[in-house]
Amino acid sequence: MLEAKYLKTGIDIFLLYLSRYIPSFLKLIKISPIEASVKVTENCNSRCITCDVWKSGFQTDLTIQELKNVFYQLKEIGIKIIGFTGGEPLLRKDIAELIKEAKKITGAQVYIVTNGILLKKKAKEIIDAGIDWIAISLDGIEKTDEKIRGVPGHFKMVIDGINELRKIKKDFKINVGTTILKDNISEIPELIELCKELGVTWSFNLLDSNLYFFQNIDENNLKVSDQKLIDKTIDYLYKVKKENPKVFNLDNKSLEFARDYLKFKNPKFFCVIGYLRIYIDSKLNIYSGCWALPPLGNLKKEQLKDVLHSPKYKKRVQDMFYLKCPKCSCGYIESCMINNLPSTIKYLLPNIKFFTKYVKI
Ligand SMILES: C[S@@+](CC[C@H](N)C(=O)[O-])C[C@H]1O[C@@H](n2cnc3c(N)ncnc32)[C@H](O)[C@@H]1O
Ligand code: SF4
Ligand code: SF4
Repeated sequence: MLEAKYLKTGIDIFLLYLSRYIPSFLKLIKISPIEASVKVTENCNSRCITCDVWKSGFQTDLTIQELKNVFYQLKEIGIKIIGFTGGEPLLRKDIAELIKEAKKITGAQVYIVTNGILLKKKAKEIIDAGIDWIAISLDGIEKTDEKIRGVPGHFKMVIDGINELRKIKKDFKINVGTTILKDNISEIPELIELCKELGVTWSFNLLDSNLYFFQNIDENNLKVSDQKLIDKTIDYLYKVKKENPKVFNLDNKSLEFARDYLKFKNPKFFCVIGYLRIYIDSKLNIYSGCWALPPLGNLKKEQLKDVLHSPKYKKRVQDMFYLKCPKCSCGYIESCMINNLPSTIKYLLPNIKFFTKYVKI
């Protein structure tokens, strides 16, 4: 049974690869996302210069009942991983209950993306609630980070939060994520050393202004303009992944994508995110794994499975594959891996078990 599942996954990945050249193959792939991102709040206690979310003022959150309904519907469509995002998820007073309910109802793995401000305070309750892993945003060393995140003391809050998590659960999975910017790119080696010391993994985000909640940022002042520094950093990252793959690991295609993206070269790829993920925002709007394109339905009026199986959803996901979209930097890693045969063979096949969670029967 398991072998059949791997075989189907392999076939779907191969069909995705072939669809680059022969569009009709895309029609053979069932849309069955495996990961859901849920915006559990629109509120935020940070003031990041890269993000608009905090600017909109206080907004009423979805109730736990509304979110439980979301979880039942996510279970119905077979979601296996749920990420809570926002806004700042740890601002929710009922975050522990939400984690418990999401896990109980769906049986999925649940993780949180957080700015880390409340991490030390909430570490015990989220671990006790069964959170599977956590992604913490940190945009530099001390003052650099604090300037970007707009919160005095943010750097220390993140370190204290990580130490607290480690104290409670020694082997807890923690990732630190940095959005690469003009102000912090030269601090990446120091950030990676810090992650090594803390025993956490490190990854990066590529600055975006096409997602609806990043559209008003001062992108020109944030982007890295020094091309040599970009090359030096990407070359350095190759070295880190070779020497410390447990801290940072990314396939070569994705690293080259990042190099081109940072240099505004508009790298070509085929977006597979619509096949892998589904997004729900804090107004219960349903997105096809893309925050840059308009929602395709709303859970107040429709059932998730009906929207997912609708012709408009299918068309959207196929259009996404051919980049009929504003383009963004989310999900380029999966797209780079699945669309590249050497990467597929080198990284995907040995990890086919892992990827069955992405391309599902
Ligand atoms: C919108 S935040 C929501 C979760 C949480 N508030 C946080 O900051 O981690 C999700 C991720 O987007 C990253 N981010 C913020 N602004 C960005 C931008 N303009 N482009 C790309 N990623 C960005 C954050 O650093 C964070 O890792
Ligand atoms: S990136 Fe996260 S912490 Fe920063 S303003 Fe946006 S939602 Fe808030
Ligand atoms: S690349 Fe395009 S389709 Fe894919 S997630 Fe980004 S904006 Fe959406």
